Amino acid sequence: MRKRVFGSRKLLCQLSKIVPLRLKKVKVDKKRSIKLYLYKRQLKLQYGRVLYSDGTEYFPFKMAFSKMKTRLSEAENVLVLGAGIGSVGMMLHDKFPGKQWQMHFVDISKPILETCSSVMDWFPNVNGEYTQADAFEFIKNKPGKKYDLVCIDVFNEDRVPQEILSEKFVHGIKQVLNDSSSVVMNVMFEDEDQQEDFEQVLTDEFSVFDRLEKEQNSIYILPANN
Ligand SMILES: C[S@@+](CC[C@H](N)C(=O)[O-])C[C@H]1O[C@@H](n2cnc3c(N)ncnc32)[C@H](O)[C@@H]1O
Repeated sequence: MRKRVFGSRKLLCQLSKIVPLRLKKVKVDKKRSIKLYLYKRQLKLQYGRVLYSDGTEYFPFKMAFSKMKTRLSEAENVLVLGAGIGSVGMMLHDKFPGKQWQMHFVDISKPILETCSSVMDWFPNVNGEYTQADAFEFIKNKPGKKYDLVCIDVFNEDRVPQEILSEKFVHGIKQVLNDSSSVVMNVMFEDEDQQEDFEQVLTDEFSVFDRLEKEQNSIYILPANN
C-alpha cells in the first residue's frame, strides 16, 4: 500500500499557500467522493459534505492533545480507529518531532486507508500499520495487543455508528489498554438521552474522564488509570 503518489512535498506546499490544490478524488458511490486537498500547507480530507481530516488543525484532537502533553510524551504505540488521512499522526509528529511513533490505523474505507498510507509517507516519524476493518468488529475480535494511546474517531459523515457508543465496544477498548494508557474519543450525539446513556457506559469502565466540547463535538479524555 505504500506508494509515493503526490510528487514533491516542498513545491506543493509553496503552491498551496496561494490556491487550494486537489491532490486526489475517488468516487465512492453515486453521490459521494473523497477528495484530498492541500491548502495553506494543511492536508485535508473531504467526504461528501463533511471535512474528515484537517491537517494539524483538526480541532477535536488538537484540543485533547493540548491537555495531555506528559501522557503523550510517554506514549509510543497508538491505535487510531477511524483513520481519515491521519491528522492524529500529523499532530503527534509535529508535537514530538524527535520521536518514532508506531501507529496502527483502522478504517472501514479502502480508498481512505490507501490515502492515509500515502499521506503518512510524508511523516517519517510515523511507522504506520493499516487495517481495513469495521472498528467495532476489530475491537470485538480482540487485536491481542496493548496500546499506549487509543484515538477513536469513527464517523459515517456526521454520524457516529451506534455500536461505537455501546457498552460492548467501550469494554473491548479497555482490553487493549495498559495501566498508563489513555483514550481520546471524539463523538457527536443525536440527543441528550444518547449522551447520558453513553456517559453511564463510560462511568462503568473508567473511574474518571474529562469532557471537552466544541460545536456539536464532545471529546472525551479517558485515562486507563488515574
Ligand atoms: C472524522 S474521520 C477520522 C479522521 C482521523 N481521525 C484523522 O485523524 O484524520 C472518520 C473516519 O471514520 C471512518 N469510519 C466510518 N465508519 C467506520 C467504521 N464502522 N469502522 C471504522 N472506520 C469507520 C471513515 O471512513 C473516516 O475515515
